[in-house]
Amino acid sequence: MAGKRVVFLGPPGAGKGTQAKRVVEKLGLLHLSTGDLLRDEVARKTPLGEKAKGYMDRGELVPDKLILDMIRGRFAGAGKGFVLDGFPRTVAQAEALEGITPLDAVVSIDLSREEVVRRLTSRRVCLGCGAIYNLTFNLSAGESTCKACGGNLYQRDDDRPAVIENRYDVYEKSTAPLVAFYRKRNLLHSVSGELGSEQVLAEILRILGA
Ligand code: AP5
Ligand code: MG
Repeated sequence: MAGKRVVFLGPPGAGKGTQAKRVVEKLGLLHLSTGDLLRDEVARKTPLGEKAKGYMDRGELVPDKLILDMIRGRFAGAGKGFVLDGFPRTVAQAEALEGITPLDAVVSIDLSREEVVRRLTSRRVCLGCGAIYNLTFNLSAGESTCKACGGNLYQRDDDRPAVIENRYDVYEKSTAPLVAFYRKRNLLHSVSGELGSEQVLAEILRILGA
């Protein structure tokens, strides 16, 4: 169903990126991931990338103003609907988003801290197309190239255990309050990220009425 305006909330490693890629492909929506946009700025060594890098490496949030300046112009192609992955992440960002666009649904993907650490220490990402893999189920030992585009796979700088723990703490402190924020607006739906990837997808599509 085209036209849906959706936010994916959830702790680091909950599966937001994995599911966003599948949902946008299935429903023809725009995928806006602030994490991916920031990593691109860092790789290109832009002024924003230089400012954001330190925060990202420590697992802290990049300041709201930088994020809002970066995301505002990205809604141009969003008439067909969108999935926001990793944005908003603070109440200030959520309030600013209300001035940019209405939403149809917010899907919170929940995952325990233990499982987050397990999944992120074994995640690999394609440098070329951004495809997301995990050593425990869709990569064989020693496999280092992407099945989709042949690009090199790498481990994100912030997927080190101490940084993962900090990212989870930051999520609980700064982002988890958005669950109540969106529940109050009757937009919130929760999905267990502990389920298999196919089941999580089916649950999200059911929520979106697709
Ligand atoms: P960002 O890139 O958004 O990172 P994150 O929120 O920490 O989330 P991740 O991308 O790590 O996890 P994910 O939920 O996408 O999981 P994935 O699908 O990859 O942000 C990075 C940094 O940028 C932040 O720390 C901050 O500094 C900055 N930033 C970004 N946005 C910001 C904002 N709005 N404001 C301020 N700062 C911002 O899956 C993880 C692994 O699990 C993979 O290996 C995958 O294969 C596997 N997996 C997925 N689903 C399943 C399943 N169902 N079962 C088993 N394994 C699964
Ligand atoms: Mg992600």
